[in-house]
Order: sequence, then structure tokens, then C-alpha cells
Amino acid sequence: MLLNVIFILLVVIHLFIKMAANISKNMRAVGLFKYLPISDINSLIDLEVSVPVPKESEVLIEVKAIAINPIDTKQRAPKPLIEKEPRILGFDGAGIITAVGEAVKKFKVNDQVFFTADIRRHGTNAQYVALDEIHVAQKPKNLSFEEAAAMPLTAVSAYESLIDRLCITEKDKGKSILIINSGGGVGSVACQLANLFGLKVIGTASRPESMKFSKESGAHIVLNHSENLVEQLKKNKLSEVDFILVNYDPYNYWDTLMMLIKPQGKICLIVDSSGLVDLKPLKAKSITLVSEMMYTRIVYNTEDRYRHTEILEEVSKMLENGKLKTTVTKVLAPFNAVNLREAHRLIEEKKTIGKIVISGFE
Ligand SMILES: *[C@@H]1O[C@H](CO)[C@@H](O)[C@H](O)[C@H]1NC(C)=O
Ligand SMILES: *[C@@H]1O[C@H](CO)[C@@H](O)[C@H](O)[C@H]1NC(C)=O
Ligand SMILES: *[C@@H]1O[C@H](CO)[C@@H](O)[C@H](O)[C@H]1NC(C)=O
Repeated sequence: MLLNVIFILLVVIHLFIKMAANISKNMRAVGLFKYLPISDINSLIDLEVSVPVPKESEVLIEVKAIAINPIDTKQRAPKPLIEKEPRILGFDGAGIITAVGEAVKKFKVNDQVFFTADIRRHGTNAQYVALDEIHVAQKPKNLSFEEAAAMPLTAVSAYESLIDRLCITEKDKGKSILIINSGGGVGSVACQLANLFGLKVIGTASRPESMKFSKESGAHIVLNHSENLVEQLKKNKLSEVDFILVNYDPYNYWDTLMMLIKPQGKICLIVDSSGLVDLKPLKAKSITLVSEMMYTRIVYNTEDRYRHTEILEEVSKMLENGKLKTTVTKVLAPFNAVNLREAHRLIEEKKTIGKIVISGFE
């Protein structure tokens, strides 16, 4: 009898300890099971999931702020698929390291960092994220978590576009670049970087506030991309440009791009074309056409994959010494499904300038 009571007591204590352990190992997150229009309250929902455990080469980060990018809305776009486990999006963030794997050398607990997330697993829309250290760099010291969270994905994309793909160097000083859609996340960082290289920067936007933001980001001229770009360039005494960065569906711009690019010029695309385009005009002018996808090095595990970290570290230094400025224009708080749906809605409407950030769990 007494033994039985003790046994039951032990089982109860054991269960209690397990439950207590569970409480501390769970975290809040926002994610999805179904891919629904953003107007549906089930498109992004508040969740309770277990805290990830960092593997050997990974760090565990307490997320302090996240930013939203068009890639979030594209990944969330409606489709007839239902996830068994919740899918947690989010590709940008800033936070504090709370645990490190055995093989991690660059970071220690309490380091303040900013990071891109891994597109193949849970993202930053949670209280904690575990990431391979390749995605992580020290946060610029004089930026807040919100100011820092706005930058990793767009800054790495803009840096790779200009320096790794278009191969722009100091020698290109004085040449010209057309940045189509210069008021968004990547466009506004690209304006800043092109300006640092001493290029003549021609942006495009269509609303007064995005034109103003492009100018503040370093565009010398901003054209209205809802009107004829060739004629507007002519009015600015330009007929051709050396480089073009297209932060938009190139399909409707294709003929314009072929007209405006200088012989031996270079064009970089960072958005998929919605239709087939004619490559023939490239030949006569010996045009280089390149593409940029920030996740290529990570997903294909390329030999130069550590370049991702190098660029993120370089961006951190440039933000810290004032060469680059954060592009955050809107901060929502706290982090929950309501605010994340609002951020997705704003991005889908294509009416944002710079970056939207969401700060902290309540
Ligand atoms: C602990 O959490 C896991 C997963 O969330 C769950 O399956 C399990 O039943 C929980 N255990 C207790 C004792 O609550
Ligand atoms: C850009 O052009 C469109 C179409 O002509 C026009 O509606 C819009 O007002 C223009 N934007 C600015 C800032 O002038
Ligand atoms: C960080 O410091 C640099 C160098 O003093 C300065 O130029 C930059 O504006 C600062 N950034 C912020 C966000 O305070």
C-alpha cells in the first residue's frame, strides 16, 4: 500500500518535472499551416512551439527584432498545400546569442548579432532561432536591434548584385547605373552602395515619398517608372547607362532595358520574369546579363559560401562607421500574428518604402 502511494507520488513528480521542463523549452512564434490570402486571419497565426536546439556549428539566438521582405509574402502566397508541422517564416533579424554549438568559434553567449535565416527551415518569426554561424555577424554596435534587423537580407542582396554580379569596382567611378524600383529594401541599399562607388545613380519610383526616399538614399536623379523611361532619361541629357539593376519583374521593362543599356554594359535581375523575354538584342551590344539570388551560396553549398558571412560582416562595419544607413521606415510592436499580417499586407500592396520591422514579443 505504502509502496503504491510512493510509486504514484514519484510518477506525479516525474510528470510535473517533465511539464516544467516543457514550459521552459517552449516559445512563442507566428507561422502557418495553410497558405491563405493575407486577409484571412488563419494566414498567419500565433503558435507555441518548442525552442530549437542548436547543432554543432549553430548558435541559438533570442530574437529581438525582425524585418519583413517580399520573399516572406512570396513564400506565404496562397497554394493548395497543408503543412503537418507549422511553417515559420522570416528571413531577417537581430538578437542576442543564448547558446552556442561545440564547433562554434566566432560567437559566445550574450553576443549581439544580426542575421539572415535559412530558407530551408524555421525562420526568424519566433522568440528563438537556431542558425548555422554562416548566417550570422556581430550587430553594428551603434544601431538598435530594430535598425539592424532591417538590413541583412537587402544589404547582402544589394552588395552581391553590385559587387559580385555586376562586378562594380572603384575603377567604375563616374559611370552610370539605373536602379529600377529604387525606393524598396534592396533598391535603397543599392543606391547607397552605388553612390559610395562614385557612380551616377538614376533611380525610379512612382510616388512622391518613394522618390524622396530614393534621393535620400543617394540617387542623383529619380525617374517615374509609370512613365516612359527613355524619354525621361533624354530630358536628363542621358541616352544610355553602363549598369542596370532591376528590382522588379523585368518582363514589362525588357524593351526599355535593351534600349537603355550601353554597348558592353551589364544588367542584373533580382526578380523572376513573369514571361519569356527575347535574348537576341544582347548579342549585338555584347551585353552581360546576370542574376542575383541571396540564397544561392547557402542552398547550393557553393565553395565560396563563406562569402555570405564576409559580406554580412562588411555590411556591419559599413553601418557602424556610417558609410551605410539603416533603411527602416516603420516599426510595429509587439511581435504577434496581427502585426505580422499587417506587415505582409503592406508589402503585398507594394506601397512600402525602405523596410518594415517588428520589434519584440510582449
Ligand atoms: C511536452 O511537449 C511535447 C511537444 O510539445 C508534447 O508532445 C508532450 O506531451 C509534452 N509533455 C508534457 C508532460 O506535457
Ligand atoms: C508618375 O506617373 C504616374 C502616371 O503618369 C502619375 O500618376 C504619378 O502621379 C507620377 N508620380 C509622380 C510622383 O509625379
Ligand atoms: C554610428 O556611428 C557612425 C560613426 O560615428 C555614424 O556615422 C553613424 O551615423 C552612427 N549610426 C547611428 C545609427 O547612430
